[in-house]
Amino acid sequence: MLLDSEVTQIPFFDLRRQFARLRADLLAELAAVCDEQSFVLGPRVQAFENEVKAVTGASHAFGVSSGTDAELLILMGLGVGPGDAVITTPFSFFSTAGCIARLGARPIFVDIDPRTLNLSADALENFLACRCILTSRGLMTDGGMRVRAVIPVHLFGLCADLDRLQDLCDRYGIALIEDAAQAIGAVYPARSGPQRAGSVGAAGFYSFYPTKNLGGFGDAGLAVTSDDELAARLRVGRNHGMEPRYYHRMIGGNFRMDALQAAVLSRKLRDLEGWSTRRWQIAQHYRDVLAPVEGRFLQLPVEPYRDKLGSCGHTYHQFVIRSPKRDALRAFLAGRGIGTEIYYPVALHQQPCFIGLGYQPGDLPVAEQAASEVLALPIFPELTEEEVECVARTVRSFFSDL
Ligand SMILES: Cc1ncc(COP(=O)(O)O)c(C=O)c1O
Repeated sequence: MLLDSEVTQIPFFDLRRQFARLRADLLAELAAVCDEQSFVLGPRVQAFENEVKAVTGASHAFGVSSGTDAELLILMGLGVGPGDAVITTPFSFFSTAGCIARLGARPIFVDIDPRTLNLSADALENFLACRCILTSRGLMTDGGMRVRAVIPVHLFGLCADLDRLQDLCDRYGIALIEDAAQAIGAVYPARSGPQRAGSVGAAGFYSFYPTKNLGGFGDAGLAVTSDDELAARLRVGRNHGMEPRYYHRMIGGNFRMDALQAAVLSRKLRDLEGWSTRRWQIAQHYRDVLAPVEGRFLQLPVEPYRDKLGSCGHTYHQFVIRSPKRDALRAFLAGRGIGTEIYYPVALHQQPCFIGLGYQPGDLPVAEQAASEVLALPIFPELTEEEVECVARTVRSFFSDL
């Protein structure tokens, strides 16, 4: 047993432990692709797409070069461009909003829910009712932009309030696109029954960046939809809009997935469910030890779907606590050899490249406060019980002394 007072080294994340366990299998997969010498798309990518469909619940899945490119491809497939606006959360990784801006459209941020840190359905409803008007051209903002879509993010592995968001999108005739980059396998208790993250809206996407719950050996991603027409555009769009060869009906990009990534991901997919369960168990361990010190100085992540779904309602890509003493806690843990991370230190509307959008400090207060308080603790399936206990007790000792 590790003692709180000992200087320990508990990494925030360590992929080498996973690789050590899967080494033989993964190297065999890579060797097989090398023997085949077929590296871009092809049967391995197709096989992975078919396997992963069961986990995503969508009827079409397209392996692409990254989560970012999956989002870009979906927005291009919907024809989003200059003059359009897309509503999203200010509390996410940059690419959620960056893809919108790269297409010449305008990202519009609405605030997050203080408990879940996901896009707030109340804030969205308020924005749509007060700042937009339905016209014969579609939904227009008071600034004259055409609103095309809403992109909620299932942050840290917890699904956003999809029933309410979908209702609002239906009412106003706009598309719901799920950023499920961090939430593959997470389940949402829809009123029609449990649904997988990414499968509820018009389209969804996932990231297989190496640190994700399902991570490749480099960049990779997936776009999914159950809309046949959109699927047709995604299929050709990921390969420069080319069909047949050297004929281009639409402008796409080189968003193709590599066979090497598909081979790695297919093998790892077999373990994903077990990994997600282990992440949830680690989260429960943290909860049990930290519950006595939860209060003014410490908030634990919420699990709003736990009663209905048990461990499936949160895949804990990250275990993110909140504290007004965040920076002191982080230094305290670093001094005891415990790694932590901050996701995300700056809300998107305050990023320097988005200054031109005109947001002022205080415009999205919930996201701004979250950015100053969040701290991610180590959570990955290979953490030992001793390590989890040590992290939990060290965090608890910090708050017990306040
Ligand atoms: C919420 C979110 N959206 C989008 C992305 C982009 O995915 P990728 O890094 O695969 O391009 C990420 C990945 O970091 C993410 O966390």
